[in-house]
Amino acid sequence: MRVAVAILAVFASVAVTIDATVYFKEQFQDGDAWKSRWLVSEHKSDYGEWKLTAGKFYGDAEADKGLQTSQDARFYALSSRFEPFSNEGKSLVVQFTVKHEQKIDCGGGYVKIFPADLDQAAMHGDSQYYIMFGPDICGYSTKKVHVIFNYKGKNHLIKKEIKCKDDELTHLYTLILNPDQTYEVKINNEKVESGTLEDDWDILPPKTVKDPEAKKPEDWDDRAKIDDPTDTKPEDWEKPENIPDPDAKIPEDWDVDMDGEWEPPMIPNPEYQGEWKAKQIDNPDYKGAWVHPEIDNPEYTADAAIYKFDNIGVLGLDLWQVKSGTIFDNFLIGDDIKEAEEFGNETWGATKEPEKKMKDAQEEEERKAREEEEKSKKDTADDEGDEDEDDEPEEEDDDSPMEEEEGEDPKKDKDEFDCCASSH
Ligand SMILES: *[C@@H]1O[C@H](CO)[C@@H](O)[C@H](O)[C@H]1NC(C)=O
Repeated sequence: MRVAVAILAVFASVAVTIDATVYFKEQFQDGDAWKSRWLVSEHKSDYGEWKLTAGKFYGDAEADKGLQTSQDARFYALSSRFEPFSNEGKSLVVQFTVKHEQKIDCGGGYVKIFPADLDQAAMHGDSQYYIMFGPDICGYSTKKVHVIFNYKGKNHLIKKEIKCKDDELTHLYTLILNPDQTYEVKINNEKVESGTLEDDWDILPPKTVKDPEAKKPEDWDDRAKIDDPTDTKPEDWEKPENIPDPDAKIPEDWDVDMDGEWEPPMIPNPEYQGEWKAKQIDNPDYKGAWVHPEIDNPEYTADAAIYKFDNIGVLGLDLWQVKSGTIFDNFLIGDDIKEAEEFGNETWGATKEPEKKMKDAQEEEERKAREEEEKSKKDTADDEGDEDEDDEPEEEDDDSPMEEEEGEDPKKDKDEFDCCASSH
């Protein structure tokens, strides 16, 4: 008996571990070896180049190394292949980190998941994909997370607006797609959206439509209130709206022959009571608003496999970026939600705080350096303005140091209009 329980327990724990499958994982931890796993498309000759780097600031100089877009105003087309699989009957988790350390003005930060038969060397913006997921920023108006599913050859965008992160730190993006046709989007391991594929995408036609045969009956009374038939207009109601001004006098120089008969100007009648309206009462025949009856949509066929993609085999970065510098890292495609969360914790979770610290320290130093520079510029200007070249040190004027605004980038405004993003 005891033995049986023990064996069962071992079996159960083994089963849990075996159950989780990782189809694709990429952390860029082996130097230039990533080049053998990733392929730049040859569809165009001038796709932007990728650089392996942890960036300007990071939590860990080695662990935070990822692929960075390195040329401004370029298309990027890079992909990596893995053993093809189907997500039938299982959850599908797509996860990665994105860091727009360049203060991105316009550019994609999303991934595309392709069928295995994609020709990677020919990948381009119109290559058919299964899923597109991740942040997209352009100007002030576009700051969203795309979740696009391909169904029978057509792309369907999510109907909900999911806001993406727009700062310069690393963020973790996770898409979970379940076999019960529910989904969840997480940013930094926190749920930001969830629902069902049927509700949040127009993948299938609507289940019901207005019955084309149904018409509102002629005698349908949808007036909630009617005039009270017992209410009548008072005898003395009729008073004209305007009356001749009783104070007006004929001007002294009025010439009837020349000017015609004099008539006093009209003024509003103080006794005017407005148009008479009968008192309103509830309509005893009121039937309520007529609702157009719906019938089952003949075009609709239920499909419990909208979520299912067979032969998933390539992850691609197919992007347009105006200002480059985005770092992608910690890619994971798997079937285990918990394991993905844990992987997110071990990667993004472990380095986010030291990364923020380093960034803050750099900004503090830059601020100080700027102040120093302003000060020395001012001193020089004061010296030059000194007509008689007197060597005596000038008294410093500390009143209003003309400080540059923090984080301002003169190029940014211009580029804002050179955009716009992402071809899907
Ligand atoms: C990930 O980290 C969060 C915050 O520390 C924690 O609450 C959660 O349990 C962790 N998840 C896993 C799967 O380890």
